[in-house]
This record gives sequence, structure tokens and C-alpha cells, in this order.
Amino acid sequence: MILGERIRLRRLEREDLPRCAAWLNDPQVRGHLALLYPMSLALEEQWFQQQLAAEPAAQPFAIDARAESVVSDSVDPAWTPVGVCGFHAVDWPHRLAELGLFIGHGDFRGAGYGTDVVRTLVRWAFRTLNLNRVQLRVFEDNAPAIRCYEKCGFRLEGRQRQSRFQDGRYLDTLMMAVLRDEWNG
Ligand SMILES: CC(C)(COP(=O)(O)OP(=O)(O)OC[C@H]1O[C@@H](n2cnc3c(N)ncnc32)[C@H](O)[C@@H]1OP(=O)(O)O)[C@@H](O)C(=O)NCCC(=O)NCCS
Repeated sequence: MILGERIRLRRLEREDLPRCAAWLNDPQVRGHLALLYPMSLALEEQWFQQQLAAEPAAQPFAIDARAESVVSDSVDPAWTPVGVCGFHAVDWPHRLAELGLFIGHGDFRGAGYGTDVVRTLVRWAFRTLNLNRVQLRVFEDNAPAIRCYEKCGFRLEGRQRQSRFQDGRYLDTLMMAVLRDEWNG
């Protein structure tokens, strides 16, 4: 497992899939991802099967969080599964990877867990995988995500104008990245 401050990243298991499909059907999650259509368990299982064939560095992680700061009847005080993260692709010749994540458990959004996950993944990318650059894409209306990435050292590099059509309007996609020699984690 890869340990952060209040999170741990472990391999996603088949047993996680029903929970993941439910999260991906939550408008507060799916609205920020490049997902247009409702998710089914069958589609999620098909995606999971494809991930098993990916190279190890590009396989997804389940995010477990320690819940001490979250007060909710629905939360186990020990490790609680809260989301999924990982690198969509790793480009070894150029030593870069694209990061993605979601905190699906609503009680855990806006409490610093996403920042913990991004810091942990970036540290793993630079210190273990020996990558030089981590990049990501985020829609312009996702202020918490943009703030989270800025806190982790990501800089805005570009903007794909009107690249996303959502709720009857076009949104820009922001391109952000952090380089190893400017990262102070
Ligand atoms: C985006 C996401 C991963 C961030 O994780 P998180 O745990 O919620 O974020 P954190 O609590 O670590 O940090 C959020 C920051 O945004 C700030 N923020 C929240 N709402 C904000 C707003 N409307 N405007 C500006 N900043 C805002 C918070 O105050 C916090 O910053 P701070 O620590 O300086 O106060 C999570 O909210 C999520 O999964 N959302 C749904 C799916 C998604 O958007 N995935 C990313 C797609 S690119």
C-alpha cells in the first residue's frame, strides 16, 4: 500500500466495484468527470477487467481514508473506502503520467482528503516511479479541484477552450502540471 497522511492507496478489488458504480452515478461526482452516460455494474466490471491488463503503474487505486475528523453515522471509524485514483497512462520515454481521482464518498469531500491523495500520488510518481512530470485535465467550473491541485504544486499550462458541453453550455478544460524540479513535497 502507498501511505499518505490520512489516506492509503491500495489496489482496487472486484468487491469495490458496486460502490464505485454508485459513486459514478452521483451527479456531484460524474459532473466533473468526462462521463456522459449513466454507469452500470456491468460496464464498471468491463472497465475493471481492462485495467487488469494495464501496466502496473497505470492500474487504479482504491482510496481508503481514516475517518477521525468526519462525523457521520454512515462512516466506519477505521479505514473507509472513499474514492478511486491513479494514472491514466504512463509515458516512460518522456517520464510523464496523467493523474486522475475522485472522492466518491460525499462526507469526505472538502475535508483535505483529495489534497492528501494528490500529494501522495505525486510523491510516488517522483520518488518511486522516477517520473519527471505529472499532468492532469480539469474542467474550469471545478473550483475545489483546481484549488486542490494548486496546493499540491500544479501550475496552469493551458486551456482547451469550449472543449466540454455540459448543462447547455460550453466549458474550457484546464491543463495543469507539476515538474519534479519545482515540486517541494
Ligand atoms: C476534486 C476533489 C478530488 C478534491 O478533493 P477534496 O478532498 O474535496 O478537496 P480538499 O478538501 O483537499 O481541497 C479543496 C480545496 O478547495 C477549496 N474550495 C472548496 N470549494 C471552493 C470554491 N467554490 N472555490 C474555491 N475553492 C474552493 C477548499 O477550501 C480547499 O482549499 P483549502 O484547503 O485551501 O481551504 C473532490 O472534491 C472530488 O472528488 N470531487 C468530485 C470529482 C472530481 O471533481 N474529480 C476531479 C476531476 S478533475
